[in-house]
Amino acid sequence: AAELNPAVLPLDWLLGTWESDEPGEGCFPTINPFRYIETLYFSHMGQPVINFMFNAFHAESKKPLHRECGFIRVQPGTNRVAFIIAQNSGLVEVEEGELTGQQLNLQTHSLARISFAKEPHVQQISRVFQLRPDGRLEQTVSMATDNQPLMQHLHITYRRSS
Ligand code: HEM
Repeated sequence: AAELNPAVLPLDWLLGTWESDEPGEGCFPTINPFRYIETLYFSHMGQPVINFMFNAFHAESKKPLHRECGFIRVQPGTNRVAFIIAQNSGLVEVEEGELTGQQLNLQTHSLARISFAKEPHVQQISRVFQLRPDGRLEQTVSMATDNQPLMQHLHITYRRSS
């Protein structure tokens, strides 16, 4: 395997495969609350980039629901991090933010979607990844849509599976 590029060393704690340890919780004022399971993969090829893939399934029916994949880059010499993301819903997005210890705080920096994306359209996303002292990874996602202000949509914790 390639050696980790020093540019992404500050994010080495993300690398590997993570499985939700108990179902995550989805909510939003306009939808019925739901539970989901999710697997996250973070890998690298020795480039100053981390590759990722997130696959989410309905907790009860196991139906595939949401998927996103993309790349993570770090601005050299800073704690500034960028996620370049494609989502199966037809959304493409750049999120940027800061790494503080083992917590990543990201916000939408730019966003585009397919012309026939389902409404309401997302206007803003904000998310936090945090490696907890117990070794679990936690992700919280909030979003604003055409008709709702920024509010939590997802909360989930993962256990490292490899
Ligand atoms: C609903 C966006 C991730 C499951 C929605 C809605 C939006 C949205 C805009 C419609 C809200 C409304 O009708 O007012 C996003 C974005 C995500 C994301 C931007 C990632 C950043 C996920 C994930 C799951 C999920 C990981 C997990 C399985 C659902 C479900 C609904 C929903 C079940 C309600 C039913 C539906 O409209 O399909 N999401 N979502 N979403 N989302 Fe997400």
